[in-house]
Amino acid sequence: MTAKLMLDKKREGRALGSAEIREFIEGFTSGEIPDYQMAAFAMAVCCRGMNERETADLTEAMKNSGRCLEWAGLATADKHSTGGVGDKLSLVVQPLAASCGVSVPSLTGRGLGITGGTADKLETIPGYSCSQTLDRFQEIVRGVGVSMAVQTDEITPADKKLYALRDVTGTVASIPLIVSSILSKKLAEGAGALVFDVKCGRGAFMKTRDEASALAAALVSGAEAAGRKAAALVTRMDEPLGFAVGNVNEVAEALEILKSRPERLADVTGLCVELAAGMVSLARGIPPGEAARLCSENLESGAALDKFEKMVEAHGGDLESFRRFAAGRTFKFRIQAMRSGYVEAIDAEKVAGVALRLGAGREKAGDAIDPLAGVTLAVRRGDRVFAGAPLATLEKSRSPDGLEAAAAELYKAFSFAAAAPEARPLVIERIGQW
Ligand code: URA
Repeated sequence: MTAKLMLDKKREGRALGSAEIREFIEGFTSGEIPDYQMAAFAMAVCCRGMNERETADLTEAMKNSGRCLEWAGLATADKHSTGGVGDKLSLVVQPLAASCGVSVPSLTGRGLGITGGTADKLETIPGYSCSQTLDRFQEIVRGVGVSMAVQTDEITPADKKLYALRDVTGTVASIPLIVSSILSKKLAEGAGALVFDVKCGRGAFMKTRDEASALAAALVSGAEAAGRKAAALVTRMDEPLGFAVGNVNEVAEALEILKSRPERLADVTGLCVELAAGMVSLARGIPPGEAARLCSENLESGAALDKFEKMVEAHGGDLESFRRFAAGRTFKFRIQAMRSGYVEAIDAEKVAGVALRLGAGREKAGDAIDPLAGVTLAVRRGDRVFAGAPLATLEKSRSPDGLEAAAAELYKAFSFAAAAPEARPLVIERIGQW
């Protein structure tokens, strides 16, 4: 069937056949199908949707557009987050799972827009390179147990081209397109078990519980249809995770969790343990409770920190230099509470917007980031504050320009109440085996 007839069929809301989808993606990858036909396809899918079988076929075709890794003889797992503010969880979760006997091949992304990328965070460690050949990536996973690197052009080239088109044609917000995009990359990476952390709320891609639940369920069923074990958590992303939003400060906070599990970060630590336990339970086939116990023990004993240090070393990074770099000179501005009361909310989207403005993120692909830029909160939701008490510090390293204006914006992220707001758990919903 020609591309034109296939587009007619999808526009009319009819289901496409497996071979049609495969040939269309093959044609797009080779350049035979032009961008305008792919853009029309993306829009037709946005408007008409796809059934589960079509989504699975699209995922499979995109996965097969590039190299697919295999991990014979290893129990493998990876975690994917849909992206949150202050989301440094991967830096703890992946080495923690690896310390429990699971091999973790984790190909990750650089940040764009308000959500930071794990690769940008890791590369604030002097020497750490996320750009590894796939052969070296496999060597690190086999030798150390965990590697966090960026996707190379060899993995799912069809997704790379399609995502760039979706970004400029208003076709990002479609569950079948999001699922096939995320899953094709994760399936090509080859992990046998996948755990998804689908963020939900003000600072997330999915703003409502219904949207987040639908995406989580579709990711799990898609991964299972492709023969992988899978589970998902829908987690709250109204407030930033932890205190740090930026790159260097988030790595420092992740190291703090790995080293000493501070009480003030108990909620974030608990979520790290739950996600890592999901990976261990699925990959090793052990009950979730046993996996959670093992993860807590390995966090406590320093085994997870040891894995993180070994991974950093294998990627050329130097944690001693990181400590000096993180303590480097920055321009700072502190904001204080103008009234007494309880912190009722800290709008994650606004905090992320300020961090982006300070230079912690990219407005467009290829922009250079300021690794030392960011926001460090002094309080969290539910804390009692008095007038004059510090709320947060803004930092940037290149010049003080714009700090004051950014600080005024940041203040708007805070809302206060006379009474403490009701505590809310981070986990909203669990999908699959936990
Ligand atoms: N992340 C992806 O990798 N793909 C999407 O389509 C959306 C988020």
